[in-house]
Amino acid sequence: MSVPLNQPACQSALLNALLAGITPNLHQRITTRFEQHFPALQHVLQQLYASQFADSNAFQQWLMSLLSALGNSITMRPANLLELDQQRSRDRQWFTRQNMLGYCCYADRFAGDLKGVQQRIPHLQELGVTYLHLLPFLKARAGENDGGFAIADFDAIDPRLGNMQDLEDLCAALRHAGISLCSDFILNHVADDHPWALAAKNGDASYRDYFYHYPDRTEPDRFEEHLGQVFPLVAPGNFSYVQQLQAWVWTTFYPYQWDLNYRNPAVFADMAAALLRLANRGVEAFRLDSTAFLWKRSGTKCMNQPEAHQILQALRCLVDIAAPGVLLKAEAIVETAELPAYLGTGTEVQEKECHLAYHASLMAAAWAALAEQDSSLVRRVCQATPALPAQASWLTYVRCHDDIGWNVLRPEAALEASGTEEIQHRLSGISRFYGSNDSYARGQSFQASDPAAVHGTVGMASALTGFSSAQTPQEKQLARQRLLLLYGLSFCFGGMPLIYMGDELAQGNDEAYTCVPAQAADSRWLHRPEWNEDLYSQRHSCLGDTGAVFNALCHMLQLRRQLPQLAADAPRRLLQPEQPALLAFIRGTAEQPLMFIANFSDEHISVALSDLLAGSGMKDLTSMVWRNMLDKTITGQAVEVPAYGQLWLIEKTTMQGTTA
Ligand code: GLC
Repeated sequence: MSVPLNQPACQSALLNALLAGITPNLHQRITTRFEQHFPALQHVLQQLYASQFADSNAFQQWLMSLLSALGNSITMRPANLLELDQQRSRDRQWFTRQNMLGYCCYADRFAGDLKGVQQRIPHLQELGVTYLHLLPFLKARAGENDGGFAIADFDAIDPRLGNMQDLEDLCAALRHAGISLCSDFILNHVADDHPWALAAKNGDASYRDYFYHYPDRTEPDRFEEHLGQVFPLVAPGNFSYVQQLQAWVWTTFYPYQWDLNYRNPAVFADMAAALLRLANRGVEAFRLDSTAFLWKRSGTKCMNQPEAHQILQALRCLVDIAAPGVLLKAEAIVETAELPAYLGTGTEVQEKECHLAYHASLMAAAWAALAEQDSSLVRRVCQATPALPAQASWLTYVRCHDDIGWNVLRPEAALEASGTEEIQHRLSGISRFYGSNDSYARGQSFQASDPAAVHGTVGMASALTGFSSAQTPQEKQLARQRLLLLYGLSFCFGGMPLIYMGDELAQGNDEAYTCVPAQAADSRWLHRPEWNEDLYSQRHSCLGDTGAVFNALCHMLQLRRQLPQLAADAPRRLLQPEQPALLAFIRGTAEQPLMFIANFSDEHISVALSDLLAGSGMKDLTSMVWRNMLDKTITGQAVEVPAYGQLWLIEKTTMQGTTA
């Protein structure tokens, strides 16, 4: 007869499975973590997987094996990382402070290889980076591999970039410099030459079930009725026929990226173990790729399913037990309303999920505001963004290695439109603005054959903000203001901002990809340039775009570090200026507020602070004397916001404590 899992005898057998092999001096510590996190872990795993087992004994056996693997992972964890875990368990807010700054790049493009990345630590330090997201560096599929997002081996480094020792050395060197290494962890799929896929192709039935496979089109067609398309031009459809399997395999992205079947508990266990092995190499944060797609349910878009969240919650529990110094970051490019759940709802049995989540709507809405010279979409995104749960943070950004996807803004656009056509018209207008050369922007439409279709835009921030097209000093000045405006919003919104490699040097597009066969079909390579040593050498120059952008960004970042109002978890209150081009919010408390005002238009705007604050419930602030931290000017009640300008206003007297 089966024994209910919550019986004390079961719990202690599970704890024993975890502790077996762990040195006794760690038992107390690990037991405490088990007691804190196992109930939530058990709860979600039971919901996800209990029904897959013949009875609760079999499920119990599986849980035992999972915990014993977790115990092994703790046994293998180096002493310095165990110490880091302890430090961070004592200071769980560590990644939400205003000193946190991310930087994102491809290792090869930035510095040749992993050893080269070490050489560039001084550059990261000059910016004040505390978190380095290196785009995929694990061994990827031979040939086309989606910029490394098709993993062939979770335990090997791409041989072009180095080896595991290089990774460990890099993690240690970065840690020594106060920088946490973030690695992609591609959860949703593996490459078609990953050993699991190869085993499936060779007829191994158990590995076949690591994937979704269908003998004919009946089920795929049924699913397709509700599914979207990520790469409609180059990889249409969500299923690919695999001859060796004589089956249609689920491939949300490219045909060579096979979606993993998380209904299979073995997939969950293997993926969790792979993640923890990398954590033991010294990786301190994981960008969990494509998290929205982890669970499939017919009749739905197969995105944001409750089980996808449960998988993330289970992973979080495992990390909290075995490597609590590690951060999980959700990459879910989904509508604003769907985003908060990736940080956990905090209701019911502790539902903690990722520590960080990309705020893709904020990013897209800020670009939309620039194009429209109207802040309505970005205001709506701010309104729809709830306060952060405890110990969580947004990842705010301007550009990344992917396109700017406009579709996430549909719900906000719908609030201002009378139908789908109007939404389509508005978003495609924005897309055209950046992709058609009719404006100052020099981007391209991504994955859209029809210029009126809405999908995404590619291009470096500097090209999209007008540096490449600028002819006159005034145009250059406006381009600079625009780029800084977007970064200013990312610095002030409330989250960990991320600088995308090249933006700090105002680096432009790179057309070279069109001549590289494995890249030519994917225009996202337009904004994945090589590091430019020439631009780097100009970063301190007073002449030219690069120096102006670099110096201004460093200045803003230096100020940011001194302003506790800009910590991720400090409150944010949106204001509603009458002028549509303005975005304004207050960060921090009424006692120590910071007011951020941004002008998304090419016209100078005067605004009376009393009007801005009217209706905000913060009337007390109207008599305050403010100082703009960015240029130290003192403002009266009427403030001037230049074209594409921004103000970081704090009370004049609170300035005294800072050194800027
Ligand atoms: C994520 C990555 C993107 C990749 C996709 C499939 O969205 O950011 O670059 O193409 O996942 O792995």
